[in-house]
Amino acid sequence: MRAVAVKELKGRPEVVDVPRPEPGEGEVLVRVEAAGLNPLDWKIADGMLEGALPYAFPMVMGVDFAGVVEDGGPQARRFRPGDAVYGQVVSEPVGGGTYAEYVVVEEAGSIAGVPASVPTTVAAGAPTAGMTALDIVRAAALREYESLLVIGAAGGVGTFLTQFAAAHDMRVIASTHGHDQRRMAAFGAAVTIDAKEHSMVDAVREEYPDGVDALVDLASPTAAEFAANAALVRDGGVALTTVGVADPDAQYAKGVEGINFQLSASAELLDRLGQEIDSGRVVVPIENEVPLDQAPDAVARARAGGSRGKTVFIP
Ligand SMILES: NC(=O)c1ccc[n+]([C@@H]2O[C@H](COP(=O)([O-])OP(=O)(O)OC[C@H]3O[C@@H](n4cnc5c(N)ncnc54)[C@H](OP(=O)(O)O)[C@@H]3O)[C@@H](O)[C@H]2O)c1
Repeated sequence: MRAVAVKELKGRPEVVDVPRPEPGEGEVLVRVEAAGLNPLDWKIADGMLEGALPYAFPMVMGVDFAGVVEDGGPQARRFRPGDAVYGQVVSEPVGGGTYAEYVVVEEAGSIAGVPASVPTTVAAGAPTAGMTALDIVRAAALREYESLLVIGAAGGVGTFLTQFAAAHDMRVIASTHGHDQRRMAAFGAAVTIDAKEHSMVDAVREEYPDGVDALVDLASPTAAEFAANAALVRDGGVALTTVGVADPDAQYAKGVEGINFQLSASAELLDRLGQEIDSGRVVVPIENEVPLDQAPDAVARARAGGSRGKTVFIP
């Protein structure tokens, strides 16, 4: 089958021909109709899971998928051939990714029926970013707060999070890297700050001299940058990063400890995400549908920056 893989850690993604995987016990074979692009894909290809899990090369990239169950291995009972499914998969050994015509998924893993209201090409953009945003609402107890500053709001997680927070009547201040005002307003942001053109810190301080209630930082790569953003949170508020740069010993404001959020993907979370999509409370922000053969270039572009919403690859 055709797939997009790296032949070594930090290697260049390329289109390859690899054997079609076989489902083992408790696993299903899914014919991939679309695979979603996430920064996690190149982080894994660069060795993020080294030491935690073995890798197999060529390492087929990708974790998000949507498609149709083709076959089941022994003891696979949750799904039947023909079921439309979506989810997130990290294989062991790492390398059985979703940038491929087929992927094998454990039935007990993060796989669920595709939300009925959207085609698989749209559903494939939802699992990682949508589950992350949904779970951040819980982890940061966002419903208790009124104002939310989102750094990196225009990307995959940020676009989902802005919609969820706005649906809970939060006032979202979206910080982006570009002219995203109209797009983010459509997703429910009250204010959008282009951090390349304006001082985000000054803009937030002017409106919230005592600080915002909550910060979700999806972008700052260093502890110092996260701390500078967390200084915009009021006493007793909450500050969370998805990039793991919060210092567990730091007090960012009175009563504010930084949360290093880590997604625990699950079928239950996917089901809840599906309900949010089907209810119309959240739209899967698909920006690009790209043929799988062009995935290597699309990954290189995404790595260089400028991502908006979600990109999906079509085998
Ligand atoms: N811990 C977890 O469980 C977990 C789960 C999901 C995601 N993540 C991580 O969370 C991060 C975000 O994920 P994603 O899928 O949303 O990524 P994404 O789609 O690439 O979006 C990131 C967005 O942030 C923008 N950005 C970067 N620096 C910025 C800044 N200083 N101010 C404002 N905007 C800025 C980017 O724009 P430019 O490219 O134009 O700068 C881009 O629009 C990634 O590092 C991902 O790996 C972690």
